[in-house]
Amino acid sequence: MRSPFSQGARVLAGSIILLCAGVGAQLDTLAKRAGKVYFGSAVDNPELGDLPYKTLLSNASEFGQLTAGNSLKWETVQPVRGTYKFAGGDEILALAKQNRQLFRGHTCVWHSQLAAWVEAGKFSAKDLTAIIEDHCGRLVGHYKGEMYSWDVVNEAFEDDGSYRKSVFYNTLGTQYFETALRAARKADPNTKLYLNDYNVEGINSKSDAYYTLIKSLIAKKVPIDGFGVQGHLIVGQVPTNIRENFQRFADLGIDVAITELDIRMVLPVTPEKLEQQKRDYAAVIRACKAVKRCVGVTVWDYTDKYSWIPSVFKGEGAALPWDENLKKKPAYDGIASAWLS
Ligand SMILES: *[C@@H]1O[C@H](CO)[C@@H](O)[C@H](O)[C@H]1NC(C)=O
Repeated sequence: MRSPFSQGARVLAGSIILLCAGVGAQLDTLAKRAGKVYFGSAVDNPELGDLPYKTLLSNASEFGQLTAGNSLKWETVQPVRGTYKFAGGDEILALAKQNRQLFRGHTCVWHSQLAAWVEAGKFSAKDLTAIIEDHCGRLVGHYKGEMYSWDVVNEAFEDDGSYRKSVFYNTLGTQYFETALRAARKADPNTKLYLNDYNVEGINSKSDAYYTLIKSLIAKKVPIDGFGVQGHLIVGQVPTNIRENFQRFADLGIDVAITELDIRMVLPVTPEKLEQQKRDYAAVIRACKAVKRCVGVTVWDYTDKYSWIPSVFKGEGAALPWDENLKKKPAYDGIASAWLS
């Protein structure tokens, strides 16, 4: 049947219906409607004692996914060789299950927040290989069947695209990626295995290095399912080619996720900076929305109250979509409207 309305009028009516349907909907709901798997948040265990914080975090319409901010890092999980501690991760897993939220694992192999014994031991290549196999195998194996995905190797490159001279690279060269990924796959055949880093949102030397590495891993049939783009960004300085960057990784046949999003500003907060931050959040979300294999977005905690930024970047902060009083900032509407756009 011929519609009495013009194509333009129908598109406009459709957009209005879409906008109305979105009013009042929460961020995970909107992400799913945009075809994504989740919108989520990082959380650290001590914060769970803050009841208003925990209540909002537990709202699965807002957050469909959790990441343990610290409790699955090597120094926490295996502080002493052979002594494993999963209590912190287990607590967050229990909360995620109760709330029906997905859980992302962070992280097996990373040079930072690494237990001191791993470097101090001055291990041979053979021994360090066995240590990685044991650590990733036990960590991923402990959460077998429970994790949506894992950051198997974290922050392996310098900004200039050279390999980071970690104890892993210095001892094993590039072989450690394969060792860690294979150990993770063996421990949980169904979780998605990621490499994860910062300053790889746009196309640059560092994201080029990941592109080359991931291509070679795929060619060698090493298990790799995704590229995690952390997204620690600065207000007014969001790269313009995020979508193109995501698309080239998607074209390799892997997923992409924004895993640690925050967009910081120089303090004090002003209405102008909050408006720019809203536009910046919207730009990042639109890039993920536009790339089919961008599966989801995680903010590195949802409130300025528990942001890592002020302690690491002096004089900067206010990086998240909720303020210190758990009130939504303009950035929240930027995210919501970008999922709807
Ligand atoms: C999540 O938050 C929204 C908005 O405040 C509310 O309408 C909804 O009922 C909450 N959902 C749950 C499961 O608490």
